[in-house]
Amino acid sequence: MNFTFRCPGCGYSTDKPTPDWKCPVCGRPLNIVSEKIPKRKSLMGEGNTPSVGVERKGRKIFFKLEYLNPSGSFKDRGTAFTVNYFNVKKNCSSYIEDSSGNTGVSTAMYAAAMGKKAFIFSPKTIAESKAKLLSLLGATLKITETREEAYQEALKMAREETDACYIGHMVNPVFNLGMSFIADEVIRDDGPGFTDVILPLASGTLLLGIYQGFLRLAEKNGQIPKLWAVQPTQVKYLRGKVKVVRDAEGPSDLADALVVKSPARLDEIVEAINRSGGGALIVNDDDMRRGVKALYSMGFIVEPSSAVVWAALEHLEKEELIGNKVLVPLTGSGLKYIGQIKL
Ligand SMILES: Cc1ncc(COP(=O)(O)O)c(C=O)c1O
Repeated sequence: MNFTFRCPGCGYSTDKPTPDWKCPVCGRPLNIVSEKIPKRKSLMGEGNTPSVGVERKGRKIFFKLEYLNPSGSFKDRGTAFTVNYFNVKKNCSSYIEDSSGNTGVSTAMYAAAMGKKAFIFSPKTIAESKAKLLSLLGATLKITETREEAYQEALKMAREETDACYIGHMVNPVFNLGMSFIADEVIRDDGPGFTDVILPLASGTLLLGIYQGFLRLAEKNGQIPKLWAVQPTQVKYLRGKVKVVRDAEGPSDLADALVVKSPARLDEIVEAINRSGGGALIVNDDDMRRGVKALYSMGFIVEPSSAVVWAALEHLEKEELIGNKVLVPLTGSGLKYIGQIKL
């Protein structure tokens, strides 16, 4: 696991990333520029999730069941890849992470498996069930007022505690690389020719990882699918930067996992969406309730933040904006919400 990291802003390059994964010269998140991609090593059976193909209106929709990863979300891919990297490169006394919930649970699970401590910073909007899971996994949870504050406090601890390791999915390029193998898997399992990907967006690890994977495999797949990012009404950062093909109003409190207001890799997210020819769709609580019902009725046990893709799929179908082979990652498990969700 030898990577060269480079700053996309000033070109600073290093083989040893800073504890906060940022360029020490200009502060931008570092990227990996190494040619050779290491093989993924499984720690808890993450990845290789099932893909379920469904015929709808003359198209094939592939639902990738990312909620079946060991801690119940796609985040395990990035966390495991990062933990593997640390296992080779650094003796971590503990793991630090900031998270609206799922990356925190994932970090706490791998920390437990590795016999380490976990310090998780989360905004007060964290779902009760996820906070409970964190405590069952032995993590120390620090609640902050906002998602941004959680990020700043985790960064502060990562800089101060030099023998702790910061997972830092908002900034960590090793995390995104771990995510990119979703593209390898779907092409291996379902063949090339994906025309579109519809996915929930918060910090951008899923979107950037999938984009990176499809770019790497462009020769085999023949094309880069259009990326359709779905966001709740409470988050506005894509407006004015990419084409918004569906807007909505009203509350979106059910989207507790999608509350990042200002992602560290915003420029890269915008560039990936625009280059792919895709766009953004905005959804509210009613859309999420409808999405949960529809997806459960097909047997997919997802959480509301994951179900945002349903209203987006319906809209893109109605407006004929998507092609004939569509990837829809189902990102988070509804089992974390049983007893909590009111439809
Ligand atoms: C269930 C779920 N779906 C989607 C996302 C958005 O992913 P990303 O932060 O990679 O944009 C998250 C983020 O935490 C999540 O928990």
